[in-house]
Parts: sequence; C-alpha cells; structure tokens
Amino acid sequence: MAINRKILTLDEFTIQQLRDFPHATGELSRLLRDMGLAAKRVNVEVNKAGLVDILGDAGTVNVQGEEVKKLDVYANDQFTGVLRHGISCAGIASEELDDYVAFDDEISKKSKYVCLYDPLDGSANIDVNVSIGTIFGVYRRVTPVGSLVTKEDFLQPGNQQVAAGYMIYGSSTMLVYATRRGVNGFTLDPSIGEWTLSHPDIKCPEIGRIYSVNHGNFFEYSEGVKKYITACQKKDKTNGGPYTQRYIGSMVADVHRNLIKGGIFTYPGTTSKPKGKLRLLYECNPFAFIVEVAGGKATNGKERILDIQPTELHQRVPFFVGSKLMMEELETYLKEDQ
Ligand code: AHG
Ligand code: MN
Ligand code: MN
Repeated sequence: MAINRKILTLDEFTIQQLRDFPHATGELSRLLRDMGLAAKRVNVEVNKAGLVDILGDAGTVNVQGEEVKKLDVYANDQFTGVLRHGISCAGIASEELDDYVAFDDEISKKSKYVCLYDPLDGSANIDVNVSIGTIFGVYRRVTPVGSLVTKEDFLQPGNQQVAAGYMIYGSSTMLVYATRRGVNGFTLDPSIGEWTLSHPDIKCPEIGRIYSVNHGNFFEYSEGVKKYITACQKKDKTNGGPYTQRYIGSMVADVHRNLIKGGIFTYPGTTSKPKGKLRLLYECNPFAFIVEVAGGKATNGKERILDIQPTELHQRVPFFVGSKLMMEELETYLKEDQ
C-alpha cells in the first residue's frame, strides 16, 4: 500500500519546521509534543465523563479503589506532570494552582521556556457533553538559564509569547498552535493516536457574521458594549448582516469557531465584575496571540491585550477578540466608554 505523504503528524511537522532553522535546538518542538501527549490522556478521560455515575463521582473512591478527581484537577496534573518530567520546560503556572511551580531539577532548570495554561476551559460544560478545551502560552524565560524560574518569568506581556495554542475536546479532538510563523491545526486521528495536520496555515476571515457574548449580562454592560450588541442585532443585508449570536460557554469552542468562520468573541466587564471573568495569562494572552497571528485583533477595550503588563498571575481582563474588520467596528463603540 502506498504511504499517503499528505498526512503529516505533529512531530513530523515541527521537525520539518526546524529544517529552516539549522541552529534551533528542538526544545519548543519537544514542549509541544509533551503538551500533545498530556492532551491525549485528558481526551481519554473527557470521553469517559458521561460514565461518571458508573465510574464514581469526583471526590469519591472508584471501583479500582482510586480517588476520582475532578476533571480539571486531573487535567492540571497531566499537563504539569508531563512538563515536570520532560526536558523542555523550566516551570509552569496554571489556572488551577495558586502559585507558579519552578521545576527544581538540573535538566528542567536548563530549559529556556516556561508554560502557562488553563488545563480545562469550559469545565461547567463537562457534565452536559459540550466541547471543552485546554489553552496554553509559552514564553522564553527572562531569568538566566540554569537557575530556578521566578515570578518575573511568568509576568511577561503576551507579546513575548513564542508560541500559544489550544486543544478542543469536541466532536473531534484538535490541537491548534501558533508561532510567529503561522497557525496550524491538527486533528487527533484516534486510529493511530496521532495529531495529524488537518488545518494548515489558518487565517481568520477579516469579517464574519457571528458575535459571541453572554446576553444574560446585557444590562450590566457598559453603554458602548450595549450599543455594539444592539448594532449587531440590527445588521441586515444593507450593512453586512444579518449577524448570528453564538455562545457556547466554552471559550475554546467559541473562539475556535470564530477563528475558522470569522466572527467576534467578547467577555466584557460588568457592573458587578468590572474586569470580567477571563484570566489574562491563561486564557486571553494565548488567544490574542493565536488570533493576531491569524490576522485578527484582540483588546481589553482600551489597549491591545498583548501589550498589557501583567501584575499578578490570576488577573482578569475584559476581552474582545476576533476578525479584524469586526474588531475595528467594535472599537469605535468601545471608545465611547473611555
Ligand atoms: P473555566 O472553565 O476555565 O473557568 O472558564 C470558563 C470560561 C470560558 O470558557 C467561557 O467563555 C466563560 O467562562 C463563560 O462564562 P459565563 O457563563 O459567565 O458566560
Ligand atoms: Mn477557562
Ligand atoms: Mn479552567
């Protein structure tokens, strides 16, 4: 049987990319492979989530006598474990952990990268069989290679990311990652357990017809945001519409769809939560990076997400991300709030 060389696995792809950089060490490729491995393990557990009544609830002991962990804790353990035992990451910060973790072994300390992640995004959707995901960003450390990483390595603006990506555990499982060179998507082929290039060189359409927002919060939004949402509802054939409202409640699924089809995703501040809900380091920066590399834009309403200097690990920001021309229209409304 002839081998179909159109099929390229994640490892083959990242190795091919290295050929253009003879001095590259392959460290980033290994880190991505490690993330991909942990995601495969998470995917297996996500697929079993519907069996929870049979296998045991989180916090209880299952039939094998093991403690059943909440899926977001399980996911965190997988990503943290694989990077800790790998040789391509000096430390991590996770939405699930209060503080960052510096890997204290001689090999990890020699790594030049740190990784920040939301191990399971959209976890409220686990019980109802709706797509969920993982989001991550990779930075070059600012402290010297060979020493323990410090908080400074994690509090870098998003424009310093060398790579960012997400996995979506959905009708099929995908890994999408961006470097400055482009955004590429890989679908997990369950028959061989490999991430397979399925969406090469993803570009976000400059304009789309989808807007994603939690309408339930409408009366808590600023005047500019309310006016923008109302304008979206009034779009018709004369001004680029009609628009469609789509909001799953798993940002990974919402932004993934908008990235491919064109659209805008928002999580604005509200009167009760002026900074919104989403976390700058684990959720907004990776998506801002991916969408910008794909040709789109991301802002907190006042400044570019990627230019925000973080002050704390778990800080939240209002978030608006999507197709370039739609974002530019939105920005004219957000200016009113300043
Ligand atoms: P997480 O599960 O990591 O806490 O994040 C969920 C986030 C995001 O994925 C989603 O867009 C948003 O929460 C939904 O929040 P609302 O229900 O407030 O709209
Ligand atoms: Mn999340
Ligand atoms: Mn989460």
